[in-house]
Amino acid sequence: ANPTLLILAGDGIGPEVMGQVTRIIDWFGVKRDLTFDVEHDLVGGCAYDKHGTPLHDDTMARALEVDAVLLGAVGGPKYDNLDFSVKPERGLLRLRKEMDLFSNLRPAQCFDALADFSSLKKHLIAGLDIMIVRELTSGVYFGEPRGIFEEGNERVGINTQRYTESEIDRVARSAFELARRRGNKVCSMEKANVMESGILWREVVQKVHDEDYPDVELSHMYADNGAMQLVRAPKQFDVIVTDNLFGDILSDCAAMLTGSLGMLPSASLGAPNADGRPKALYEPVHGSAPDIAGQGKANPIACILSFAMALRYSFDQGEEAARLEAAIEKVLADGARTADLMGEEGGTPISTSEMGDAILA
Ligand code: NAI
Ligand code: MG
Repeated sequence: ANPTLLILAGDGIGPEVMGQVTRIIDWFGVKRDLTFDVEHDLVGGCAYDKHGTPLHDDTMARALEVDAVLLGAVGGPKYDNLDFSVKPERGLLRLRKEMDLFSNLRPAQCFDALADFSSLKKHLIAGLDIMIVRELTSGVYFGEPRGIFEEGNERVGINTQRYTESEIDRVARSAFELARRRGNKVCSMEKANVMESGILWREVVQKVHDEDYPDVELSHMYADNGAMQLVRAPKQFDVIVTDNLFGDILSDCAAMLTGSLGMLPSASLGAPNADGRPKALYEPVHGSAPDIAGQGKANPIACILSFAMALRYSFDQGEEAARLEAAIEKVLADGARTADLMGEEGGTPISTSEMGDAILA
C-alpha cells in the first residue's frame, strides 16, 4: 500500500505554499515512483467557516490513522475576535494534544547561498546543520498549580515546572534515535544547578543513554550557557534536547541564526504506531502571514522542507529528502529569491509558484 499523507493547508498563505508542495509530491510519483495517497482536509479558520469548529472530529480521526500530517498555517484577522474555544489555533492545539506529539524537532540549517543574508559572521554558520528537540507537552506551560492568586494584600502569579521520569525518558529517546540518523551527538540542556526538575532531567537522560544509546556521544550543558554557545559557535552541536520552556526560546534563537521565517520547517513526533513509526505532524514554523496572503509573494521553502522532513522521518526516504534539499540549495545558489530573501542589494523577487517551478526544474 502507498504511504498515506493528510494535508491540512489551513488559512492565509497556507494553501499558497502547500500548492507548491503538492506539485512536488506529484513529481515524486511520476519521476521517482514514490506515490503517496494524499487526502486534503480543513483546519483553522476555514474549518470554522464550514463546520463551526477549527477541527472537525472526522479530520481528527483521520489524523490519527494516516502515516503523517502536513499542515500549512492557521489564523488571520478575520478570526481574531472569535471565542477562545473555536479560535483557529485551537485546531492545531487539538492535533498536538490528541496525537500526543511530545517531541518537537526544529532544525537550524544554513544553505550556503544564504550565508551572507544572515546577521551572523558567515564562517560561524556556513554549513550549519543542527536540530533542536523540544519537549512539547509538559513542563512549566502545563504544570499545576498555575494561576494568579491572592496572597496577603497582593497577587501572585504561579506556574509550576514539572517533569515525570517517563516524560523525560521518551523525549530523550527520540533525540538519541534522531542523532543516530545524523551526527550521532546529543547535547542535553537544563539548569540542574538551580532546578530540581533539571537534576532529574540530567539523571534520566544519562540513564537512557547508558542503557540503550551508549554509541551516541552525550554531553550536558546549562541552558544559559547553551544560549551563549549557540550564538558563539553553533557548529559544535548536532542534536540538542531540552525542555518545553528552554526549547521554545533556544529553538527560536537557533532558527534565526540562518535567516528568514520563510525557510524554517518543523516536525512534531508522538508515540510509535503499531508499525513502529511515530505519529507525526510536519509544518512550517511561520504563520498565515495575512499581510502578504493572496498575493503570490510567500516563500514556499519552509513548507517544502517540512515535507522533506516527512520523507526522512516518517517514510524512510532519506535519499529523496536529500534530493529535494539539494534542489533547494541549487535554486538559491542560482539566485532565485522570494521577497523575504531579498537583501540590501535589492533585485527582482520571484513569486511563490515561480519558486516552485525552479525547484521542480
Ligand atoms: P507570521 O509568521 O504569519 O508572519 C510574520 C511575518 O513573516 C510577516 O511579515 C509575514 O509576511 C512574514 N512571513 C511569514 N511566513 C512567510 C513566508 N513563507 N514567506 C514570506 N514571508 C513570510 O506571524 P504573525 O504575523 O505573528 O501571525 C499571523 C497569523 O498567523 C496570526 O493569526 C497567528 O495567530 C497565526 N500563526 C499561526 C501559526 C501556525 O499556524 N503554526 C504560527 C504563528 C502564527
Ligand atoms: Mg516560540
